[in-house]
Amino acid sequence: MNEKDLKALELDLLLESIQRRYGYDFRHYAQASLKRRVASMVNLLSLEHISEIIPQILRDDSVCNDFLRVMSITVTEMFRDPDFYALIRTKVVPYLKTYPALKIWHAGCATGEEVYSMAVILKEEGLYQRTQIYATDFNNESLDVAKAGIYPLDRMRLFMDNHNRSGTTSSLTEYYTADDDSARMSDALRENITFANHNLVTDGVFGEMNLILCRNVLIYFDKMLQNRVLNLFRDSLSHRGFLCLGSKESLEFSPVAQEFEAVSRHERIFQKRGLPKASSLAGGRGGD
Ligand SMILES: C[S@@+](CC[C@H](N)C(=O)[O-])C[C@H]1O[C@@H](n2cnc3c(N)ncnc32)[C@H](O)[C@@H]1O
Repeated sequence: MNEKDLKALELDLLLESIQRRYGYDFRHYAQASLKRRVASMVNLLSLEHISEIIPQILRDDSVCNDFLRVMSITVTEMFRDPDFYALIRTKVVPYLKTYPALKIWHAGCATGEEVYSMAVILKEEGLYQRTQIYATDFNNESLDVAKAGIYPLDRMRLFMDNHNRSGTTSSLTEYYTADDDSARMSDALRENITFANHNLVTDGVFGEMNLILCRNVLIYFDKMLQNRVLNLFRDSLSHRGFLCLGSKESLEFSPVAQEFEAVSRHERIFQKRGLPKASSLAGGRGGD
């Protein structure tokens, strides 16, 4: 067996070990970034070969936690891609305003900045009180940061710029209190948010959502897993619910695409088609 095949075998055995021992299934994560992450795990543990991780991870939960940390890329920011949030205000919010009660799911919320961004918009648009927000991730350490809602003060300058560019009429300073080096998001912003652990690979539907945001998460999955997760979102959305993906993600490759129309292709905002499916197939809005 050549070195390349041997490495592939070691990787398969490692992923199967983690899946069977801990239930975390990384077998359908995108290969290139998966290989980079596993290589950095080999370095972190000062090992030579991937297979040497296996006995350590099987016997020691803390090595599994290290692996989860390495696999979970939590880069995020408030009002990331301000144009996306501007379109949420102009294209999605008017529709949401027609509902007496709303449910929103942030899947893969990392440390929560995206969740608080949407909560600010809901406050500004007078929708917050009628909304229940669910924010999930498979990384408990990130969820703890998200629940605390405390961010380094030096990040707030960027977050405020993004907020201003998202078409706001208010100041972000209304939504947090600052001390010497940190900013704490206000209690009024968190009262309708539930943070919970949910693994998109292994866990099920999160029912009857009006809006699902899963941005910059599918990019780490292979096409088969992306398709599975897109089916999960389709099944979790209410009639005419909205699905928002990240700038490098789409659903066009998936059979699920037929069941959505683009509100904005550029900003990856999609809306579930109304029934009956056959007639709505002909009449999509097309997006921009
Ligand atoms: C780059 S962050 C995206 C954060 C935010 N959505 C944004 O766009 O700014 C990717 C997040 O996906 C989460 N993630 C990766 N695999 C996951 C899985 N199988 N189930 C749930 N979350 C997952 C990671 O833990 C990480 O917090």
